[in-house]
Amino acid sequence: MVEQCYRSSTKHHRKGFYVSMKLFRTRNGKPDKPFVFRYFKWLLWFSLSFYFFARFLSNHQPSTNSLKTAIITRSQSHVVSRALSESTIQHHPINNRGLLKDLKVYVYELPAKYNSDWLSNERCSNHLFASEVAIHRALMESDVRTFDPSEADFFFVPVYVSCNFSTVNGFPAIGHARSLLSSAVDYVSSELPFWKRSNGSDHVFVASHDYGACFHAMEDRAIADGIPDFMKNSIILQTFGVKYLHPCQNVENIVIPPYISPENVQSTLSKSPIDGRRDIFVFFRGKMEVHPKNVSGRFYSKRVRTEILRKYGNDRRFYLKRHRFAGYQSEIVRSVFCLCPLGWAPWSPRLVESVALGCVPVIIADGIRLPFESAVPWPEISLMVAEKDVAKLGGILDHVAATNLSAIQRNLWDHKLRRALLFHDAMEIGDATWEVLVALSEKLGRSHRRKSRLSSE
Ligand SMILES: *[C@@H]1O[C@H](CO)[C@@H](O)[C@H](O)[C@H]1NC(C)=O
Ligand SMILES: *[C@@H]1O[C@H](CO)[C@@H](O)[C@H](O)[C@H]1NC(C)=O
Ligand SMILES: *[C@@H]1O[C@H](CO)[C@@H](O)[C@H](O)[C@H]1NC(C)=O
Ligand SMILES: *[C@@H]1O[C@H](CO)[C@@H](O)[C@H](O)[C@H]1NC(C)=O
Repeated sequence: MVEQCYRSSTKHHRKGFYVSMKLFRTRNGKPDKPFVFRYFKWLLWFSLSFYFFARFLSNHQPSTNSLKTAIITRSQSHVVSRALSESTIQHHPINNRGLLKDLKVYVYELPAKYNSDWLSNERCSNHLFASEVAIHRALMESDVRTFDPSEADFFFVPVYVSCNFSTVNGFPAIGHARSLLSSAVDYVSSELPFWKRSNGSDHVFVASHDYGACFHAMEDRAIADGIPDFMKNSIILQTFGVKYLHPCQNVENIVIPPYISPENVQSTLSKSPIDGRRDIFVFFRGKMEVHPKNVSGRFYSKRVRTEILRKYGNDRRFYLKRHRFAGYQSEIVRSVFCLCPLGWAPWSPRLVESVALGCVPVIIADGIRLPFESAVPWPEISLMVAEKDVAKLGGILDHVAATNLSAIQRNLWDHKLRRALLFHDAMEIGDATWEVLVALSEKLGRSHRRKSRLSSE
């Protein structure tokens, strides 16, 4: 029911198609009046065009005086499509702004070096940190986007920092993240007055990396580097979250899920249904060191993964694999329990993949703060095992299998959960971008527009 999507342009095309079908039917009903029909068609075409043109004029009042002309020209084309989509929305009542408290987000248009240039590498929009791309795309087409920054509640700064993949190990190199972001902030604050007005506090960034806006994969280095000063007042959308004080979340933040391609999930589920046969009892595939290296006093995964391998490596109920395999989603959909132990950071993409593919996530990451806790009832769909209890996993999972496993699976196989944790290019009500907007709509205290409205009342 609520699976409305915001592709208003397609709706518009469909409507055009419907209109012409109706015309043909009229013609068939009165086959001896082809001239009347032709005349009628042109009249209709003309009046529709005139209607849209008039709407465009009336919607687009020159309220953007404060903007630099360059920006105005760049957004002209969007204004036209906006006018069209608004008129479509009136005919199709998909206006759900009430749910989002009439939230309005301005998306900065930055030079290509900050974002679209990186997309020349296809991995940029598909890897686990790609929410920075997905949220940007979804906002661009969304109903909450405004083209008039003076009426915006929030300002989205679209910089892709995770797309510089190392040629050596294939991991994203984020050493340049701080300077790229800092330069983007210089750009927006020189182009428009809104950054300076709030010192960035109504501006929104994505930091989908291990330790959020600390931009380093190793916790001690991340903490030492800290969050850049210029981001400290802003709102950070981050995959990192813990329930205790941590310097890398000492900023207004929203915990978001890591990016998993909804198309890949759909393709896996089309081959194996979510309630199909699950012949693997416990599944884990990923980095699992026999002797983890001591990196300045830290061991990968706090040695939790090593302990899992040591204790259960020869246990036939445990399907543990240390090597990469592109088809691993087909293994998750065959599994009852999926282990989600910490890596360097507490979160991992396994959280999303397990839920999306119906495998009960077994979360082993003390103190982790999970994404969208108000929309996703994590305690009812997953298990939490303390890091110190990892050697007791076998007994814990046997007990659950014998008692409440089917209750957990019933909760888990609710398709709403899958939607809430996946980012779609065109936002859907209840999907991950939507949940981000819900969370933002709870921070409207930071909106300049709302504050000035209150003080003028
Ligand atoms: C990509 O990362 C490498 C290694 O960190 C860095 O030397 C290079 O400057 C980065 N490229 C860009 C365009 O930022
Ligand atoms: C803006 O915020 C930064 C970071 O918190 C702070 O260092 C700076 O003093 C603030 N500037 C103004 C003008 O408030
Ligand atoms: C790990 O390395 C640190 C120095 O980097 C050292 O102080 C510590 O004793 C080492 N820990 C173990 C268990 O080897
Ligand atoms: C299932 O049982 C386990 C252990 O007995 C318990 O920790 C967990 O909260 C239960 N989950 C649900 C959804 O009932």
